[in-house]
Order: sequence, then structure tokens, then C-alpha cells
Amino acid sequence: MGKDVIIACDFASKADCLGLLDKFTGKKPFVKIGMELFYAEGPEIVRELKARGHKIFLDLKLHDIPNTVKKSMNVLSRLDVDMTNLHAAGTVSMMEAALEGLTRPDGTRPLLIAVTQLTSTDQERMENDLLIKEPIDKVVMHYASNAAKAGLDGVVCSPLEAGKVHEACGKNFLTVTPGVRFADGDIGDQKRVMTPAEAKKIGSDYIVVGRPITAAEDPVAAYERCVAEFVD
Ligand code: C5P
Repeated sequence: MGKDVIIACDFASKADCLGLLDKFTGKKPFVKIGMELFYAEGPEIVRELKARGHKIFLDLKLHDIPNTVKKSMNVLSRLDVDMTNLHAAGTVSMMEAALEGLTRPDGTRPLLIAVTQLTSTDQERMENDLLIKEPIDKVVMHYASNAAKAGLDGVVCSPLEAGKVHEACGKNFLTVTPGVRFADGDIGDQKRVMTPAEAKKIGSDYIVVGRPITAAEDPVAAYERCVAEFVD
């Protein structure tokens, strides 16, 4: 899989999600299904979007004991998604167990990506709530290296970190980056943002774009603008 734009389908119902996706009559975009939509609609929404021809990033961010994560990943592997994820904070053994669970009997598996530190966690919260005293950049890079060591395919990170992740973990280690905004668009609640063109320049492999597409007057045009800036 090469560079692509992933639309974050942050909806509370199948009707809202299909309301958006029905507008795409040509190319079927790669979509991200997160906890909100998955918990509202269950695995059926994955099957339905897959049957409609979409590639799927199932963003459920697993984090539990290795055995539980392994068995849960095994269930998710049968949903035939293209990419899924977990928290690197679950440790290298948990990530290794996840990979094992995710690998199908024929040896194929979806891409597995780790979340390092959530962008909602800043230095102060990490030090005071989690008692992690190292600089947050170092923690993010350490978690990325742990993910690479466990054999994962990449990490979710800010586009601003994508270059450094590639330097530390190799250029084939994927960077999946949210926090993307058009140069002339609203940044909303995101703090550190980049345009699709900048994300391309810095070497992001996939950009995850939500509201700049889903809340646009013309979502198809907004998606095509992302593709033109990031992929073409
Ligand atoms: O609407 P917006 O483009 O901000 O959506 C970004 C998507 O990426 C959302 O689904 C959000 O939950 C997700 N995300 C993020 N920052 C992270 C990890 C995931 O914005 N660090």
C-alpha cells in the first residue's frame, strides 16, 4: 500500500456515515472507523463498508494484557480490515502477542500500527499523572522503537514527528498522521497541524483527515483536494 488519504468517519450512526460515503460515486476512499461508530453499530458496519469497496483502518486502540489482546486481534483479523492499532504503552510483549493474534492462518494480516503518546497528553500530564519524567519527544520515539522492535508496521504520530520516526525506525516504518488542515481552513481543536502538502514533504505515509472533509460543504471536493496535495 502506498501513500493515501484516510477519511476519519467520526460518526455516531451508520446513517450519518453512509450519508457522507454515498456522496463518493467514483473512487472509494480509505476510511477510518473509530470507537464511536464501532461501538454504535458493531462489526456489521465494518463488513458493510468493506463490501462497498472501502479499505478500512479500524481505530480501536487496544490496550490490555497480552493474552486478551492476542485473542481480540484474532477476532479482528477475521473482519478483513486493512489496518488496525493498539497502544504502545501496553509493552513490547503485548505488541508481539497482538501481531501473533492478528496473523491469519495463511500468513496474511492487516497492517498493525501503534499509538505512542496521545496528542492530548502533554509533558505536564505525563509527568504528574503517569509519573513519566522523561521529555515527551523522547518517550514518543522510545515507544516508536518498541513498536518497531515488536515487528509492528508503524505508528500514529503528528506529521511534525514523521521525519524523526523515519530516521529512528527506518523509512519503511509507516507514519500515519492526523492533525491535517488546509492552509485556508479552520484548525478547530487540533493544536499542531500541517497541510496535506507539508505532510507529504515531511514523509507521512498516510494522512487521517476528519472534519476538513466530513464538515466541508463539498466533502468529495475536499477529499480530492487532499489527494491532489498529498498523493498526486
Ligand atoms: O477531524 P480531524 O481531522 O481533527 O480528525 C482527526 C482524527 O484523527 C480523529 O478521528 C481523531 O480522533 C484522530 N486522532 C487525532 N490525534 C491523535 C490520534 C488520533 O486527531 N493523536
